[in-house]
Amino acid sequence: MTFSFKSIASWSLVVLILMQFAPLKRINPPVVSVIQLPRLIKSSLKKACYDCHSNETRWDTVAYIAPASWLASNTVASGRNALNFSEWNIQDMANNQQKTTKIQKVISEGSAHQKLYYLWKPETRLTVKETETLLQWLNQRNGRTRVSP
Ligand code: HEC
Repeated sequence: MTFSFKSIASWSLVVLILMQFAPLKRINPPVVSVIQLPRLIKSSLKKACYDCHSNETRWDTVAYIAPASWLASNTVASGRNALNFSEWNIQDMANNQQKTTKIQKVISEGSAHQKLYYLWKPETRLTVKETETLLQWLNQRNGRTRVSP
């Protein structure tokens, strides 16, 4: 039995349409705690990290079309699992040095952390200034004297 291009194309279309009906957890649960941070720190984190590490995800249009939506909802789920600023407070940040150090590491890596995302939404990348300010502030939180990354 041979498959014509036309039959493959139409079956692919059917599969693509069916894929849209797979249920997804594309929800924003309530924000448990609003972390109190200096304005610039908060706005930088909101811009570059909150889409995957908070309950305030800005779901992109593409997040509604399968299979991109599967990737998006999976990434957000595991991102929230690793770190969720909506369920965290400043005390956690002070107490949890290990996590703070990891956050510093991720920020130093820049867009390498989530290449596809930062390529897709370049406007969410941190500027050099924002990166420096964040790292400096986190260093102070960690009680270290080191200033530059
Ligand atoms: C596109 C989604 C996305 C964005 C945006 C994003 N992350 Fe993540 N992040 C993830 C995912 C998924 C994981 C869990 C898997 C992994 O470790 O890569 C994660 C893991 C982490 C971890 C835990 C790493 C570890 O080793 O335990 C930290 C810390 C982190 N991210 C910080 C950040 C910070 C800070 C930003 C903003 C500058 C950010 N992330 C932006 C998706 C994202």
